[in-house]
Formats: sequence, C-alpha cells, structure tokens
Amino acid sequence: MTHRILILGGTTEARQLAGKLARREGFSVTLSLAGRTESPVAQGVPVRVGGFGGVAGLAAYLRQAHVDLLIDATHPYAARISANAADAARQSGVSILALRRPGWEPVSGDRWTLVDSVAEAARALGPAPRRVFLAIGRQEAGAFEAAPQHRYLIRSVDPVEPKLAVPDARYLLARGPFPEADERALLEKYDVDVIVSKNSGGEATYGKIAAARALGIEVVMVRRPFLPDVPLAETVDALAAMVDHLFDPVAERGV
Ligand SMILES: NC(=O)c1ccc[n+]([C@@H]2O[C@H](COP(=O)([O-])OP(=O)(O)OC[C@H]3O[C@@H](n4cnc5c(N)ncnc54)[C@H](OP(=O)(O)O)[C@@H]3O)[C@@H](O)[C@H]2O)c1
Repeated sequence: MTHRILILGGTTEARQLAGKLARREGFSVTLSLAGRTESPVAQGVPVRVGGFGGVAGLAAYLRQAHVDLLIDATHPYAARISANAADAARQSGVSILALRRPGWEPVSGDRWTLVDSVAEAARALGPAPRRVFLAIGRQEAGAFEAAPQHRYLIRSVDPVEPKLAVPDARYLLARGPFPEADERALLEKYDVDVIVSKNSGGEATYGKIAAARALGIEVVMVRRPFLPDVPLAETVDALAAMVDHLFDPVAERGV
C-alpha cells in the first residue's frame, strides 16, 4: 500500500524531509512550493508550484490527490498557509503534522528589541537616522518606506521590486547559509548599527545574530506569528520518526 504525503515546503528542512521520506518504500511524496522564488534549488522529489486557492482549494487538492498525510514544513513566518493547512486537514479528515524549527533564544551579550510585526520594527528604529541591515526577506521590505530617514542595506534571495522609495538603500542578492565570519565582515564593511531580523531559528541564518552580539549591535527581532496547534516536531529526524509511527503496520491495524 502506498502512503501519499504532501509536504508544504519552501524551507531547507522541507527539502531534506522530502528526500528522506521519498527514499522509503511505500511512500509517494510530493513537495509544494508557493512559487515565490524565481529559481528555487532542486528539490529532488516531484514538485507542484503555486497557491491552492485558500482552505477550500487545499482541501479539494487533498481529496483529489488522495493525500493520506499533510506535512506543514513551511517557514515559521508563513502563517497563512499554516493556518490553511490545519483547517483543510480538519475539513478533509487528513492527518497533519508540522515541522517547526525552534526559535533562537537571546543569550548574554545579545541586544534584542522584540517587536510583533515588520511595521513595528520600522517604528522601533526610532526617529534619528541609523545604518540598518534588513534581513527579513523581500516580501515585507516595503514597510520601511515609512522610515525613510535611515540608510538601508537590504539582503534577499530575489530582487526587491519595486525598489524602496527611500533615498539611501543598497541591495544584496544572496542565499544562505551565512557563516558568522562573513556576516561580521559585512556588518563592519557597511558600518551597520542595527539589524532587523525574523526569529527564523536554525543555523543557516544565525551568523548575523552571533556577529551582532560580538560587535555589540542591536537586533530588532520580529516575534513569531501565531501558528495553529497541530502535532509537531522540531527536526527532520523527529518528524520522520512521527511519520513512521503513523504508518507503522501495527499501528495501522489498530493493535
Ligand atoms: N515568510 C517568510 O519569512 C518565509 C521565509 C522563507 C521561506 N518562506 C516560504 O515562502 C513561501 C511563502 O511564504 P509566505 O510568508 O508568503 O506564506 P503565507 O503568507 O503563509 O502564504 C500566502 C499564500 O501563499 C500560498 N502558499 C504559501 N506557501 C505555500 C506552499 N508551500 N505551497 C503552495 N502554496 C503556498 C498560499 O496560497 P493559497 O491560499 O492560494 O493556497 C498561501 O495562502 C512558503 O512556502 C514559505 O515556507 C517564507
């Protein structure tokens, strides 16, 4: 019997999980991407691209594709698709698991200012001009047009279009991982005095946080959004173990 698994992705862990599960006998794995990134890295399993059309669209897809298990492995700030996934799974009676890497915790020497949204981060920079490193991705960079007095260094995987309507912004195109030494060199080169970051968790983008600590630079940290309460694991291996348990032949017989 083949178990059909749909993984909502867009993260490194989703790709790793898809590869791991696809190697197992009896699993048919499809990875779903939103289609935001112009040239996503190869995923190694069958991929479908683009939105489903809200909860109803996702629920219909789950039924039509005879999905047995939905895995939400999206980025922790992709709150809408996570909410939709939980609702669609409930509506269609499909099991759901989530893979969510834990957020970073501040440690001694960190200078974090916590805010609830990107718009609040723009306000938290204050009225005086500062040299800001924006490391929040391109989708919400526009919020900083509300604070045009600052000088911005903006890093993203794909170009920010349209460019920000602020007088001083530089753009860097790069895809992580970003080692701490490189991040430190970047912060020094551009004389950055504040970083705006999401609390993404994981190693790949922690370098800037560690470098900021070493240099005594403030980090305006956007708190994680509310995410639905579904069974979850924090690592690829732990999630794969949950999948094995779910499809364990003994468990399936209800013994
Ligand atoms: N937000 C971030 O900081 C961030 C960072 C790194 C990677 N990502 C990845 O980028 C993608 C989009 O993030 P977002 O913040 O724009 O999400 P979002 O606001 O939660 O989702 C907006 C809409 O995009 C579609 N969508 C999102 N993820 C999808 C997926 N994996 N497969 C198919 N459709 C998807 C859905 O459209 P429909 O309602 O039409 O189904 C969803 O309603 C996600 O896959 C996420 O993992 C996000």
